[in-house]
This record gives sequence, C-alpha cells and structure tokens, in this order.
Amino acid sequence: MKKILALVLALVLCLGCFAACGGNDADTNDGTEKEVLTMCTNATFPPYEYYDGDKIIGIDAEIAQAIADKLGMELVIEDMEFNSIISYVNANENAFGMAGMTVTEDRKKTVDFTTSYAKGIQSVIVKADSDIKSIDDLAGKKIGVQLSTTGDIYATDDFGADFVTQYNKATDCVLGLTKGDVDAVIIDNAPAQVFVQQNEGLVLLDAAYADEDYAIAVKKGDAELLEKLDTAITELIADGTVAKIVEKYIPSEN
Ligand code: ARG
Repeated sequence: MKKILALVLALVLCLGCFAACGGNDADTNDGTEKEVLTMCTNATFPPYEYYDGDKIIGIDAEIAQAIADKLGMELVIEDMEFNSIISYVNANENAFGMAGMTVTEDRKKTVDFTTSYAKGIQSVIVKADSDIKSIDDLAGKKIGVQLSTTGDIYATDDFGADFVTQYNKATDCVLGLTKGDVDAVIIDNAPAQVFVQQNEGLVLLDAAYADEDYAIAVKKGDAELLEKLDTAITELIADGTVAKIVEKYIPSEN
C-alpha cells in the first residue's frame, strides 16, 4: 500500500513539474498549456497578411494557423518590418518567417526554407496615365519598393540605387505612387492586384518582372523545426488545405 502511495505521489510531482517547466507555453481555453509557435511577418501585404481591424488575417496567417493546429502548438503572430524577419527568426526559438517570402540563393545562406507553398510574380504598378508601358520604360524613372524585398533587390540591380525609393511598408510604396513621389512600384503580383483595386487611377503593367517561389523561413540549422514545419506544410498542400485557403483570398475566375 505504501509503495502505491509513493508511486502516486511521484507521479503527481512529475506531472506538476511538466506543467511548470514548459517555459515558452501559452494558456489555452481548456486549461492545458501549448508550446508557442511564432509567425514573423509584415502585415502590409494583402492578401497574404494584412489587418482586419486589429487582427492579422490572410493566406499566410491561415496556413500558419493550420500548421500550428497540426503540431498542437499555439500560434502567435508577430508583425515587424519585412527587413527584420530573418534576424528575428534566427534569434528566437520556435519562430518562423512567413510573409510571402521568396526563396533566394542569398537568403538561403542565412535561413533554411521549407517546401514552397505558393508562387509569386514581381509586377509593376503605374498610374493609368503613365508613359511607362513596359519594363524597359522604367529606366531613369523613380521606382518605389518595399525595403529588402526581391522587388528592391531587382530594381536596385537593374536600374541603380539612385532611382529606387525604399519604403518600410508595402502600403507606403503605393501611397508614394499615388502622391507622385515615385513613378512606379515593383511588388508581388497578388498584393499589386489588391492595391490597384483599392486605389483608383492605378494600373498593372502587362508584363511579369520575375517569377518566384514563396516558402517558410526557419533559423539556419534548426533541423528539428524545419522538419516539423516542412512535414506540416507538405501535408497541407497534399490534402488541399493550402489551395482552399488561397482560393478564399484569391478566387479563381471560373
Ligand atoms: N516576395 C517578396 C520577397 O520575398 C516580397 C515579400 C514582402 N512581404 C511582406 N509581407 N511584406 O522579398
């Protein structure tokens, strides 16, 4: 009898310790604690991540939630400058970058990427009455980009830093264009479509600047987190969840 009591006591102590030693945990509605999984993003990028009131919604936010659910973790979304995502991911546990982020050889040197879950195209937004009709017409014009995005990198490479204005927010690039501070904005196609719809007098050039793959970024060398997220996103692609979320935000025409 004594032995059983001791065993029960040991078990209770053990459980208590598990609950207390969780560290990076969050209280959930049912009273249990889940490990926190942090999505780092820049929520100026509809339909991938943007604010609806004080809530961040969008394709990435919903896919991230599905990943966290799959992993039994508690999703927390941290909104930051696009330029800070990679360093945040590398400095924090259980954090990943998901921000319509393009896989590039350069970024691969500082973060690891999961399987790609979406395609992006760099597009050009101009004013409807602009004399810019093609990519070549951009030479010598003022181009607005979001700081450290691929749009920034390509524009700077192709047209020279002197002609490129870097904004912290994608939405500010568009504001710069409507105010006439820049003549064109180079940005990913899906947000470009949203911005053109939201702002009268803006149009998209009928030319793709570059094709890209979006993926989730994790701390360089964190094989365990990479494996978890990669398995989850691969399953969510395979079972149609990702396509369903994309369709909700970017309805196909037919
Ligand atoms: N795809 C581009 C890149 O990776 C732009 C992404 C910007 N994302 C954002 N959430 N603001 O550089």
